[in-house]
Amino acid sequence: MSMAAKQARGKKANDVIFATNSQAQEAAKQYGKENVLIGTVGSILDENGDIVFLKVVEDEFRNLPRNEYVAYAPIEGLKEFVEACKQECFGQSRPDAYIEGIATAGGTGGIHHLVHNYTELGDKVITADWYWGAYKQICQDNGRELVTYPLFDENYKFNFEALQSLVLDIAEKQENVVVIFNTPGNNPTGFSLCDSDWDNVLDLVKGIVNTGKNKVIIGVDAAYIDFSGPKEDVRRFFKKFEHLSKDILTVVCYSISKGFTMYGQRVGCMLGITSDKEVAQEFFDVNQMTSRGTWSNINRPAMRTVANIVLDPEKLKRYEEERNCYSRLVEERAGILECEGKAIGLPMLPYMGGFFATIPSDNPKALADELKKENIFLIPVAGGVRIAVCSIPKRQITGLAQRIYDAMKRVGQL
Ligand SMILES: Cc1ncc(COP(=O)(O)O)c(C=O)c1O
Repeated sequence: MSMAAKQARGKKANDVIFATNSQAQEAAKQYGKENVLIGTVGSILDENGDIVFLKVVEDEFRNLPRNEYVAYAPIEGLKEFVEACKQECFGQSRPDAYIEGIATAGGTGGIHHLVHNYTELGDKVITADWYWGAYKQICQDNGRELVTYPLFDENYKFNFEALQSLVLDIAEKQENVVVIFNTPGNNPTGFSLCDSDWDNVLDLVKGIVNTGKNKVIIGVDAAYIDFSGPKEDVRRFFKKFEHLSKDILTVVCYSISKGFTMYGQRVGCMLGITSDKEVAQEFFDVNQMTSRGTWSNINRPAMRTVANIVLDPEKLKRYEEERNCYSRLVEERAGILECEGKAIGLPMLPYMGGFFATIPSDNPKALADELKKENIFLIPVAGGVRIAVCSIPKRQITGLAQRIYDAMKRVGQL
């Protein structure tokens, strides 16, 4: 029997990541932390295996005035927080455009609003085949359908032709075309679009809106931007979103979960970039309304923390220095995996940044299960096994490529 309404029946979020993580924690209790490799969840752990809370952020967060912990925040977010997000998200590459921001429950909240407000019921939402599972759940839960194009061509370069063909197809069928790009530092692969990839994307989008039939909304999920290379380099592409036709809206879903190590505080900001004042106002209005209709307002102390740090040059400097140390640590870990893997011929998808790297596999579950036998816990995703390089200490990541290679041989995948 079901009590759920028709559209809700049978819904279930099977979270492989959290399930695998609990198995890993159990194994660590049984066999000792040193003997278990946990590469499951996307949080930075230090070399001792403890979750990182950046010192500057922790100090600010724990020492706010009493009122900041208990008072409501405005639905659209604290003004200073939204300004801080514009500053931190875009850096020196803030587009010359109308930019509005709405505070969201993590980057996830921004993706939700993007899907909810910029597509119609039954519409299709486009992303690449290597995508973060929550996209699909958000689409399904909102009566939309996620459709994908292959991210890579046969040379592991961005498969622009595949994107083009899917976008053109969807543009025939619906007015609003929403495409989500998870870059830089894609989850699960670590791939980032380069400058010329973006130029191709924008040429395509311009061509589509020129027909007068469609509007295009470019979603940029920038959750891993702070762990994807030098600050200003990885932000330069934002400049490309200025001076575009008013039928093109760019929505950047910015998250403070990773960059400020406050995953559990559930704070993010969606930033709408447009050359049209009315589109900007509408962006503010419709998304603020959806916040009211879902979670109301979000976490005030975490927003205040971000604002206080970003808008104070001295704190910002200390914060960025500390964060960069961890960014370099994650890069180093990924580098070890990549370098050792290359030496023995282990296949790996192109990693340019972010918390994860992926080993392609025809049967990811079989490979992940085989690795579990050796107390190596990784996440099987469609087409590969995902390794959370953000959470594995260097001493454990050393040798991991060989262990995966051997496991692949044992299960007949090499
Ligand atoms: C690709 C991607 N986008 C967005 C997010 C958003 O995370 P949060 O809602 O915690 O900000 C995540 C977190 O895992 C992610 O992997």
